[in-house]
Amino acid sequence: QAADDYQQMERASKFFAYQLRNHKKSAEVVDYLKGRGLSGEVVKQFQIGYAPDGWDDLLKSLAKDQGSREQLVDLKLVNRNDNGRYYDFFRDRVMFPIRDRRGRVVGFGGRILAGDGPKYLNSPETRIFHKGRELYGFYEVKQAHRNLEQVVIVEGYMDVVALAQAGIDFAVASLGTATTTEQLQMLFRATKRVTCCYDGDRAGRDAAWRALENALPLLTDGLELNFLFLPDGEDPDSLVRQEGAEAFTARLAKAQSFTQYFFNHLTESLDLTTDGGRAALLSQARPLIEKVASDYYREELLQELARLLRREVSQVASQVKQKPQHA
Ligand code: GTP
Ligand code: MN
Ligand code: MN
Ligand code: MN
Ligand code: MN
Repeated sequence: QAADDYQQMERASKFFAYQLRNHKKSAEVVDYLKGRGLSGEVVKQFQIGYAPDGWDDLLKSLAKDQGSREQLVDLKLVNRNDNGRYYDFFRDRVMFPIRDRRGRVVGFGGRILAGDGPKYLNSPETRIFHKGRELYGFYEVKQAHRNLEQVVIVEGYMDVVALAQAGIDFAVASLGTATTTEQLQMLFRATKRVTCCYDGDRAGRDAAWRALENALPLLTDGLELNFLFLPDGEDPDSLVRQEGAEAFTARLAKAQSFTQYFFNHLTESLDLTTDGGRAALLSQARPLIEKVASDYYREELLQELARLLRREVSQVASQVKQKPQHA
């Protein structure tokens, strides 16, 4: 069953890729992708496709019998309405296949071309698709690099693809949710340096702090976590197209380390010249520092905390519990 699920997902991805080249709306969709700066080559590399605007094109093409139709329903490629009618889940959308770490298609993201409706539709969870455990573009990144020096985490499919188009071929996207501990763990097994680079808006800044919190228990000695904040209203796609790859790479090189971001964020709205401000910093920083896995980073955080509190490091350290023994 499972092996067949992956085959069916791959068939769906091939179907969408074929439609991008051959559907009667092909020219319009290709123009859209070109308008977003993508070459045919990168479109092929990510197997970007088009889900036709009919009701059941995919269904007709892939459902050979009752069994395979139910399978498409299970894989959330096909819906069944209350009248018992079956129809395609993705219609008239640009399709981004999501591969697992072994390269198997496990889900899709579909972007609307124009008109009303949610901008992106993502495959719901299925027996082979668990959002918090997958990263869009991770397989492609690993294919491109024998030795992976660093990975950038971004928010969107288009950010990954646009960066790859610009030659920055080491970006992955967490799938519409906050970056999970599992996703960070996957990345830190593949590389030592991870940079979070979310959109320059409220949602992006919130996502960055949540990623930091999720990363604390994983940061062992030698791993590096950085944060690159973009100008308001920009995302990696818009910025790399505007400024080019060199400027984006220069921004990456100047990203904040997680310890810098840690204190920048916590002290943002505190007045450290007052006892109240310093007490608030201590109480907010303490439980977070207690989660840090690495002795090196704990030390670094404690030293900076002591400096900001105007106390001795030993005095501050005595108020922060020793790290729990981690596995
Ligand atoms: P473009 O407009 O194509 O550049 O998309 P974007 O990636 O910049 O979109 P945005 O920053 O708004 O969203 C980032 C990511 O959040 C997307 O890539 C999607 O994964 C997800 N997302 C955005 N809009 C929606 C939506 O309407 N529904 C769902 N489920 N997810 C969305
Ligand atoms: Mn490279
Ligand atoms: Mn955004
Ligand atoms: Mn965006
Ligand atoms: Mn965008």
